[in-house]
Amino acid sequence: MSNAFIPFHVPDIGEDEIQSVVETLRSGWLTTGIKAKKFEEEFAAYIGSPHAVALNSGTAALHLALDAVGVKEGDEVIVPTMTFTATAEVVLYFKARPVLVDCQPGTLNIDPEHITRAVTPKTKAMIPVDFGGQPCDYDLILEIARKHDLKVIEDAAHALPASYKGRRVGTFSDITCFSFYATKTITTGEGGMATTENPEWADRMRMMSLHGISKDAWKRYTAEGSWYYEVHSPGYKYNLTDLAAALGLVQLVKCERFCDERKRIAELYDQGFGDVPAIRRPVVRPGVQHAWHLYVIQLELDRLRIGRNEFIEALKNENIGTSVHFIPLHLHPFYKKTFGYKPGDFPAATDVFERIISLPIYPRMSEADVERVIGAVRNIAQQYRRSFSKQSAVSRKQSQRQ
Ligand SMILES: Cc1ncc(COP(=O)(O)O)c(C=O)c1O
Repeated sequence: MSNAFIPFHVPDIGEDEIQSVVETLRSGWLTTGIKAKKFEEEFAAYIGSPHAVALNSGTAALHLALDAVGVKEGDEVIVPTMTFTATAEVVLYFKARPVLVDCQPGTLNIDPEHITRAVTPKTKAMIPVDFGGQPCDYDLILEIARKHDLKVIEDAAHALPASYKGRRVGTFSDITCFSFYATKTITTGEGGMATTENPEWADRMRMMSLHGISKDAWKRYTAEGSWYYEVHSPGYKYNLTDLAAALGLVQLVKCERFCDERKRIAELYDQGFGDVPAIRRPVVRPGVQHAWHLYVIQLELDRLRIGRNEFIEALKNENIGTSVHFIPLHLHPFYKKTFGYKPGDFPAATDVFERIISLPIYPRMSEADVERVIGAVRNIAQQYRRSFSKQSAVSRKQSQRQ
């Protein structure tokens, strides 16, 4: 069996993507134009949302979504601590406050109970993150939002294509934000999309994505466009190029297949780790269709003589790339320093962080690659297993609690 390096991620780019980009390069139109418009239309049709706004990152989508719903200085926005910094940093762009909350230890999604406790009269919105591609518990989340008049900006950077109780992600939150970063289910290198049912929010996001210039600013150099434009607001430069959209249009057609292939790998991992007591597999709640952007195992540290970092090193020695999603925000120097957060403030995320490893999962992985990852994880778990006594587990848990 080959021992070649298995990277954590490799994008699936075929000749058809390459051709599409080359055609666009030859077309004489590189920036936002008909390809970006077409990508928006096809994405909206695929998701089943009336409006989709193409942007140059998922972060831009989150930023413009908060702008569209009117977040302003002094507001509070509820954000899970178990996420990438983009989810919270966009709140800070407004001089508003990201209020962190803990996760559910199984799904790693935001815990709705903690959302309720974090609501204050200043809370304007929340940004639930569909961790790893599994939609959060939206029945509860939307109920809390209705009760307290909060906007729900869904961070679905991982959740294409996913659904919750038969409804496609991108169709039930106030605004849903997707990412097409290189590791995501479909990629444009860098890119993002915001979907919403609200035409005013869609118009606002579109306008703010191109300097706050009046409608269809991108058309001003086309045959039917006009040189005249008006600036209505100090906007941003967040528009998606046609070059990126050319890639996205081809990737979108493959989205279902990509997801099926990720799902197949998740099933193989589930089977491969089912009888390994040191490995906790991802928890999937009933009623969700998971996008399997990530496959995150949790180590049962009581059963091992090594910690998570050594486990990752051991996998590296086997030529297997991994990652960690995420270092919870409250453990980063900026969030600690600025808001005074301590590890004990979010016990579930703090505990889980010590155990998590994201394994490679992407369509380019062969079955042999998947088998190699399973074999390596099993061997390391076996090699470093701790002879397990109930007594030591109980006393360990007690000392952890103190
Ligand atoms: C949960 C989450 N939200 C937002 C983003 C930001 O997306 P982008 O890199 O497209 O700006 C990421 C990035 O990977 C992410 O993981």
